[in-house]
Amino acid sequence: MSREVVCRASPSLALVKYWGKKPGRGNRPATPSLAVTLGGITTETRVRLAPAHGHTDTVVLNGQTQPPERFRPFFESLRRRVRRRSSAQGDLPFFDVDSRNDFPSAAGLASSSSGFAALALGCSRAAGLELSVRELSALARLGSASAARSLFGGFTLLPAGGRSARQLHPPQHWPELRILVVVVSEQAKPISSRRAMEATRGSSPYYRAWLRDAAALLPRALEALRRRDLEALGEAALVSYSRMHAAMIAAGPPVLYWLPGTVAAIHECRRLRAEGIGAWETLDAGPQVKILCLAPDVAAIAERLRRLPELGPSVRLLEARPGEGPVCGVTGE
Ligand code: ADP
Ligand code: DP6
Repeated sequence: MSREVVCRASPSLALVKYWGKKPGRGNRPATPSLAVTLGGITTETRVRLAPAHGHTDTVVLNGQTQPPERFRPFFESLRRRVRRRSSAQGDLPFFDVDSRNDFPSAAGLASSSSGFAALALGCSRAAGLELSVRELSALARLGSASAARSLFGGFTLLPAGGRSARQLHPPQHWPELRILVVVVSEQAKPISSRRAMEATRGSSPYYRAWLRDAAALLPRALEALRRRDLEALGEAALVSYSRMHAAMIAAGPPVLYWLPGTVAAIHECRRLRAEGIGAWETLDAGPQVKILCLAPDVAAIAERLRRLPELGPSVRLLEARPGEGPVCGVTGE
């Protein structure tokens, strides 16, 4: 049996959003992002070295071979690291990757974050590279900037222009926090986060204002998180996603991910808050709604969502909590 590395990682949900890139190459974020790693939602990635002298990397996601362009900067950077660290002049490694997400992919649930985090860990292990978690975070960032955060558990920060993310608090900082994910649509989204972000930068007159405001919002959110103040953190998260979407909707042509179920869930959260139940929604690049709340309120919030005609009793709800960072194992040795 040949050697296989198996890694699991969870998506990183931004409370303060990354949206937009610094000019130039290297996939550096233009805004700081503050996030929580979603324990209970998982990507599982299996990596083998490609047969000797094979010169292609193959990534299969949920049974479908992925277009290679998206993965090229990641694999090339990984091979540069292998070359730098090894004295031997042997063949550089290529990779066969098989990955599965237990949640909808490319649909606004941050699959690229857990996907590239698991890939960075799995491929570096398969190549025999011992990288620090900061180096892994920088490598994952080349695939997807949000993935830099998924290398860590708990609550994470990726600064504007940052090369890597870091952990601010472990998951145990806030054990009662829950994130209820409302799967409004199982479909892949019509436009990827990357293209939508570029469209916003290139054509939204609000893009500059978004950048200025995003930086100003961060200290408030950090302090709220430090104090475990759901209301203050929820308010900051609300402002962050609303302004990010306002900038997107102002692009030409507009980027609009919202569906009727999205809007219905947003209004239900407002009603719940008016009744004194802490239900603070946030949205990413997709129609899904993620609700920050506390463990004792999950059942009541879920029941109210199921009653909405736009969602219905069978709507898929995923309950996540602050989770651990990725784990990895090796089989066939
Ligand atoms: P999402 O909202 O799910 O993050 P994105 O458009 O940002 O959507 O990213 C989706 C892309 O991320 C996929 O098209 C694929 O290229 C990559 N991706 C998602 N899941 C994985 C995975 N498990 N392994 C490798 N790449 C993945
Ligand atoms: C709305 O990290 O998917 O989820 O770096 O181009 O891969 P790329 O973008 P990606 O964008 C995430 C955007 C977001 C907010 C966030 O996660 O911070």
